[in-house]
Amino acid sequence: MDPWTGKVFTHIYDPGEPELIEYARGALLRNYDKTMLDFTVYPSIVFYETDLARFLLGIFKGGENSVGSFTYGGTESIMLAAKSAREYFKKKAGDATPEIVLPETAHPAFRKSAEYLGMRTNIVRANRETWTVDPADIDSAIGKNTAMVVVSTPNYPYGTVDPVEEVASTTRDKDVWLHVDACLGGMILPFLREKDPEIPRVGFDVEGVYSISVDMHKFGYAPKGSSMILYRDKHLRLGQLYVNASWPGYPLVNQAVLSTRSAGTLAAAWTIARLLGYEGYSRMAEKIYKARRTIEEGINNTGSLYVIGKPKAGTLAFTSDKKNIFHLGRLLKKKGWILQSQPGNRHLGYPPSLHMTISPVHAEGPADKFVEDLAMLVDEAEEWNWQLVESIIQQLGLGQGHDREAAALMGRMVKEQLVSGGGEGEGLDLVNLLIYWLEPDKVEELLKIAVNEIFS
Ligand SMILES: Cc1ncc(COP(=O)(O)O)c(C=O)c1O
Repeated sequence: MDPWTGKVFTHIYDPGEPELIEYARGALLRNYDKTMLDFTVYPSIVFYETDLARFLLGIFKGGENSVGSFTYGGTESIMLAAKSAREYFKKKAGDATPEIVLPETAHPAFRKSAEYLGMRTNIVRANRETWTVDPADIDSAIGKNTAMVVVSTPNYPYGTVDPVEEVASTTRDKDVWLHVDACLGGMILPFLREKDPEIPRVGFDVEGVYSISVDMHKFGYAPKGSSMILYRDKHLRLGQLYVNASWPGYPLVNQAVLSTRSAGTLAAAWTIARLLGYEGYSRMAEKIYKARRTIEEGINNTGSLYVIGKPKAGTLAFTSDKKNIFHLGRLLKKKGWILQSQPGNRHLGYPPSLHMTISPVHAEGPADKFVEDLAMLVDEAEEWNWQLVESIIQQLGLGQGHDREAAALMGRMVKEQLVSGGGEGEGLDLVNLLIYWLEPDKVEELLKIAVNEIFS
């Protein structure tokens, strides 16, 4: 699939300026064979990384002592922030097991980091109208072992923004590390805020924010494999670094999780950032805002579909009480529109939805055309049929001692469709319906088996 068609609303962040992407590709190619492991061999790495950090710290209102490190993605930025917070906590609290307090809507990278780093998580429920966390709930979740509190600006599932300033006033009072996950909205919200004071501040100008993750490979328009982790103060980053001088080889000095990394994505991210500059990102943010408003209104005007919460950056999700939105997704695909299915989960109270990542390229033309097609197709979509889902669960023998075989069978079925290109995605629809219907623990167990099968 070509992601640069203007019809794709998932996993692609298209500025709509092909020459920009060409420059980035050039920088990527010129640096693909240089390693970030040894900046004494390639000193330009120090320049690219610190200059990119300086650019971002300008956007996020960092101070003189603020710093940033380049990573290969949001997950890595988050993991490093969690490691830094863990080390910071240990200095204060000794051997207690540190805990991350996070909204249920926060990216799973925080739960994954906790698993990797031997930390605990304390998940806070989001308000079901706004799909943001209530600061009072964060306040009551903070305990003596809280090493880090997380807010998302915005979260991935719904694009809604947690109340950073209100949560910061709580964490400040309790002297707890606050991390702002701006992976998705960091290159949009600070620019939109200049015109709309309702957009919350997400930077270090909010007293109490210790670290911020921001992905260059999302709305920074850089190639996949580029993100930054920013710290209010240089000393907070010390816990992130891994150094080993106790083996016979070169002194190992790692600022990130990986050792050898191509410098290609760093050089490309720097190139795009410096070419676009503050003005360029501001222009992009306005285009995204325009396209998102058109799409939001178009969805809500259909009558049977509605946008979940109040998205504020470049993503949104919509659902329907009546229409099977996965079937609608397939109808849209036939017209060339690619959206992402979000199964949700009935046990957790998350609705099934279609997720859209809206890029600047959608502002001129595609957003209007999409709304037109959506209005035309919505009546054709089937209605939910949960009885059918229950009977399929019976047929597969799920919950009757046949879970492993059923999961492996599903894995093979999906693989068949993916590899042969056969079918119209009904297999994936079924998987999404099952994910919505079953207990999340069961889903996780089954998915591992299915994915193991897909990659066999
Ligand atoms: C809000 C948010 N945080 C973190 C991540 C993780 O980023 P990555 O996939 O680059 O590891 C994502 C990815 O979509 C995200 O949307």
